[in-house]
Amino acid sequence: MAGLDESGRPKAVRWENDELYLLDQTRLPVEVVIERQDTVEQVWNSIKQLKVRGAPAIGVAGAYGLVVAMLHERVSGRDAFLAALEQHACYLDSSRPTAVNLRWALERVVNTAKRSDAASAPSLLKVITDEAVAIHREDEELCRLIGEHGVDLISEGAGLLTHCNAGRLATSEYGTATAPMYLAHKRGVRFRIYADETRPLLQGARLTSWELQQAGLDVTLIADTMTAYVMDAGLIDLVIVGTDRVAANGDVANKIGTLGVAILARHFGIPFYVALPFSTIDFNTPTGAEIVIEERDPDEVRSFGRRPTAPPDVKVRNPAFDVTPHHLVSGFITDRGMVGPPFAENLRKLYVTEV
Ligand code: MRU
Repeated sequence: MAGLDESGRPKAVRWENDELYLLDQTRLPVEVVIERQDTVEQVWNSIKQLKVRGAPAIGVAGAYGLVVAMLHERVSGRDAFLAALEQHACYLDSSRPTAVNLRWALERVVNTAKRSDAASAPSLLKVITDEAVAIHREDEELCRLIGEHGVDLISEGAGLLTHCNAGRLATSEYGTATAPMYLAHKRGVRFRIYADETRPLLQGARLTSWELQQAGLDVTLIADTMTAYVMDAGLIDLVIVGTDRVAANGDVANKIGTLGVAILARHFGIPFYVALPFSTIDFNTPTGAEIVIEERDPDEVRSFGRRPTAPPDVKVRNPAFDVTPHHLVSGFITDRGMVGPPFAENLRKLYVTEV
């Protein structure tokens, strides 16, 4: 069935016979619904509504979204193709502002088309399709490498905490924060994972606990309010989270609540690691203060799932992300290895050729 991998597990993003399939993550874990994406507007909405979410996955979906867009464009020459492509990239980029992977993937597809010597629309379409597929495959490999580089952090009997979902549902495979966990599990290490529920949209409850449980890992779900309790009780030895954008100085934007977890980890003397592929580092953004934080629909906070839980007109703030200052980060687990402080210098040393 389209949208499932070889073992029958749903994939966040799947490209099959020139068609894009996205798993509707808003329906998990109650229903597994896979939707074919027929138009660029549908892809935009799927990203906006968090049907597909997680920084690497929205980058991959955005890249394929450009292919979906151009499959329906009736343009003939190279210039008209490139102009339409750029317009669609701009449009898709407007769906969510914080995760830099989206812009990175869109720019990569557009620049590849511009650099190619393809002269006709069909040959340019092939160029961008190949590039989207390459981004997709590469993401899987980057996550696998993150797993290899982070696995030694997880020792027998350890207790881990993660926030939101930086798992396989947020990427092409393995996840970022979860990649070392999957690999440690595969190698027979026994450890426990605590998943924060992650209000308001419950990615920890609905997605992380679901995918880890499905894969046979030892996962315990806690409400966000219980994080200090489990740390104080000595149940957590290590925190690993994902990220939507790392600024040049190492400040980390990630799901709302991450900053609180990082502050608590520092208070209790627990190492706090951030896992990411290079496409999440934004050397053009000097510090976290310049990262645009997405503000979402107030009704997400006024309700729990679909049930209203607050006065309909109560004032609400709903920032979807927060920024953890680099001094609270113990290290980055990247596709090229572990990165310790000073982050500005060490991230640049490792990745300066990619920018
Ligand atoms: O709003 P979401 O669900 O897209 O937020 C996702 C996160 O914050 C993840 O931790 C981040 O994108 C990294 S995913 C590997």
